[in-house]
Amino acid sequence: MREVYLDNSATTRVSDSASKAVFNVMTNFYGNPSSLHGKGIQAEKIIKGSRQTIAECLGVLPSELYFTSGGTESNNLAIKGSAYSMKRKGMHIITTKVEHPSVINVCERLKDQGFEVTYLDVDSDGVLKLEDLKSALTSKTILVSIMAINNEVGSVQPIQEAAKIIKENSNSLFHVDAVQAFGKIPLVPGLKDIDLLSISGHKIYGPKGIGVIFIREKTRISSLFDGGGQEKDIRPGTENVPGIAGLEVAAKEAFENLDKWHDTMLGLKNCLKDGILEEIPDTVLNGPSFGGAPHILNISFLGTKGEILLHALEEHGIYVSTGSACSSHKKEQSHVLLAMGKGPEEIQGAIRFSLSPFLTIEDIEYTIDVLKKEVKTIRKFVRR
Ligand SMILES: Cc1ncc(COP(=O)(O)O)c(C=O)c1O
Repeated sequence: MREVYLDNSATTRVSDSASKAVFNVMTNFYGNPSSLHGKGIQAEKIIKGSRQTIAECLGVLPSELYFTSGGTESNNLAIKGSAYSMKRKGMHIITTKVEHPSVINVCERLKDQGFEVTYLDVDSDGVLKLEDLKSALTSKTILVSIMAINNEVGSVQPIQEAAKIIKENSNSLFHVDAVQAFGKIPLVPGLKDIDLLSISGHKIYGPKGIGVIFIREKTRISSLFDGGGQEKDIRPGTENVPGIAGLEVAAKEAFENLDKWHDTMLGLKNCLKDGILEEIPDTVLNGPSFGGAPHILNISFLGTKGEILLHALEEHGIYVSTGSACSSHKKEQSHVLLAMGKGPEEIQGAIRFSLSPFLTIEDIEYTIDVLKKEVKTIRKFVRR
């Protein structure tokens, strides 16, 4: 049976070159980077090289990058770390209603600790309004956190414009959750006017359990851990050297192929979108019809249940998601679709397709054919 993996926003298959790099470091360069002997020095050199490569991808200084365990930890560090270090200047945080749970739940925890959080609305495409951001900024705002690409619907936020507004109108720090954007679309050159940025390895064909936080030089954030001083005490703990080496290879490949992979994914996504919307009745696009992420497509199949459709597709070797993987075990409605003003039928029947550049047009045609058949069958059994 053909296998069509369309859940790349949940996680990706590690590339052959990244997994070779991981294996090589695990078996040959297994020293602890803090050890003073040659094995330690070898491991330390690997980290230094990886930091340099990733800094070049972002156009920032290697000293501004800190390795973490992934996007969730980078987001926690960015938001809690700046809130704790800045709370004497103010206790107001701004974010949006469509952030990943690793941002929203951190903000909710800070609210319990006395911080005030403003959640910006989004329009029906899932995009925030810059006027709302401008009017939400106050003299007490210490942090704005906005994701670059939404993981459920693929809306792209106006990060560069937001950065300019924040810097011109406040003293706030600006954090960007770039987990779905890094290696997929060009980021703001040199991360201008961005103070903190989160990256994860497993979304770009790198290993799980490795990520990066960018912290602009001279930005002070509190560490959330106490330990042996690694990563300048921002993220103490023995470094995940194999993961770091794998992330380096994955990041290098993603940046070398950025335009090519972007165009391939966008072409495939548009074929899938047009095929579904034109050939299957009662389907609704959730997210921008133009200008969205190249790799994320969210469509509601009215009169179906996303979870039933997901399992029906699985029987044909097609793997999709009903929303974000992180929240799919909770039986809650998608907070992203709700914020976009979607109704219960649209939310219930929503499926996220997330693409990689390694798919083929035959994979897409096969998916459309299977969808046509399965949606029809499910609609006979699901009462509207
Ligand atoms: C936008 C976004 N932020 C953060 C994360 C969390 O990243 P990680 O799985 O590396 O903790 C994800 C993962 O799905 C994501 O999509």
